[in-house]
Amino acid sequence: MTTQHDLFDPIEVGDYTFPNRIIMAPLTRNRAGEGNVPTGMNASYYQQRAGAGMIITEATQISPQGVGYPATPGIHSDEQVAGWKRVTDAVHEKNGHIFLQLWHVGRISHPSLQPDGQLPVAPSAIKPEGEAFTYEGLQEFVEPRALEKDELASIIADYVNAARKAMQAGFEGVEIHAANGYLLDQFLRDGSNQREDEYGGSVENRMRLLREVVEAVCAVIGNRKVGVRISPENSFNDMHDSDAQNTFNAVTEMLNGFNPAYLHVLEGDMGSDKRELDYAQIKSRFSGPYMANCGYDFERADQAVKNGEVDMVSFGTLFISNPDLVERFKTGAELATGDKSTFYGGDEKGYTDYPTL
Ligand code: PHB
Repeated sequence: MTTQHDLFDPIEVGDYTFPNRIIMAPLTRNRAGEGNVPTGMNASYYQQRAGAGMIITEATQISPQGVGYPATPGIHSDEQVAGWKRVTDAVHEKNGHIFLQLWHVGRISHPSLQPDGQLPVAPSAIKPEGEAFTYEGLQEFVEPRALEKDELASIIADYVNAARKAMQAGFEGVEIHAANGYLLDQFLRDGSNQREDEYGGSVENRMRLLREVVEAVCAVIGNRKVGVRISPENSFNDMHDSDAQNTFNAVTEMLNGFNPAYLHVLEGDMGSDKRELDYAQIKSRFSGPYMANCGYDFERADQAVKNGEVDMVSFGTLFISNPDLVERFKTGAELATGDKSTFYGGDEKGYTDYPTL
C-alpha cells in the first residue's frame, strides 16, 4: 500500500493536529532537580526541540514507589506539577506539542531508591539479571516483592492521579509506558509474570492491569489524550515472552478497543539488530495512528510513512544532538552525533548546548 504522505505532512492524533510526523521519543536524561522536580534547564531543553511534530517527555514517575533511577522526574507532587508547567509553557511558546510519559518501574529499582528502603515491587518475585543505577553507583538488582492483588487498585489510582496532574501541568496528553521491562510490561510478558491469580497466566490475564490502567486514565482525561507504548520483543531489563507475537497482537486488539490517540511501538530489540516479529500484524490490529521507534534513520522512516507501514516515527538519540532535527531532515543537513558520556546525568553540557544549524 502507498499513501499520499511523507514525514513532513501533518497528522491528526487524538484531539490534535501535529505539524509533522517526526516525533521526539521519550529519553531518560537524569537531570531533574531536588525532589525530582523539573527545572528551568529541563524547560530550555524541551523548548529547543519544540519543532518536533510532538515531544514525548522522558519517563516520569507516577508515585514514589515508581522510582528506579537517580534524578528522574516525577508527576505526583505539586512542586513537580509546577516544574512541568514551566516545561509545557516553554514548549507551547514555540507552538510545540508535548505528552508526558507515565512510568512505574516495578522491579527495575533498588531499596535505596524506594520509600523507607522497601523492596521494589513486581508481578512476581523474580529478580532481573543486571544492576540498578543508584545514587551509590551500580548495585545488583534485588528480588522484588510480588504485589498483592489488593494493592493494584492503588497503583491504578496513582496512574489516574498522575494523568490528572499532567493535564494540570499543561500537557496535551499522556503516554502510558507499557514497554521496556517496567511494571506494566512486567505484567504483560510471561518471563516476569508467573502469577496464579487473574493477573497472570493467560494473555487475557497478563494484560488485565494494563487494560485497567488504560480504562481508568481514559475515563478521567479522555481516550483522545492517551497514547500507549509497547515493546513486544525488547529484551532490555531481562525481558522475554514465550509467544511475543501472539501476546502483543492481543494487547494491541485490547488497546484498540479504547480508541486511544496513538500506539507507540518499539520495534525489535534496543540492544541488538534482532527484529523477528511481524509488526504489520500489530499495525493491522490498530485503527489509529501507529508510531514506530528504534533504529529508524530519515530514509527508512520516510519510506515507511510513504509505504503506509507506519504513520509517524519517533527519534531518540538523534533528537539529543540535533535539537532542530526536523529542519535538518528537511534540508538534508548533516546530523550531529551525540556524546554518550553526557546522555545520563550532568548539567547543560551535552544537554542544552547542542547547536542548531
Ligand atoms: C533508561 O533509563 O535507560 C530507560 C528508561 C526508560 C525506558 C528505556 C530506558 O523506557
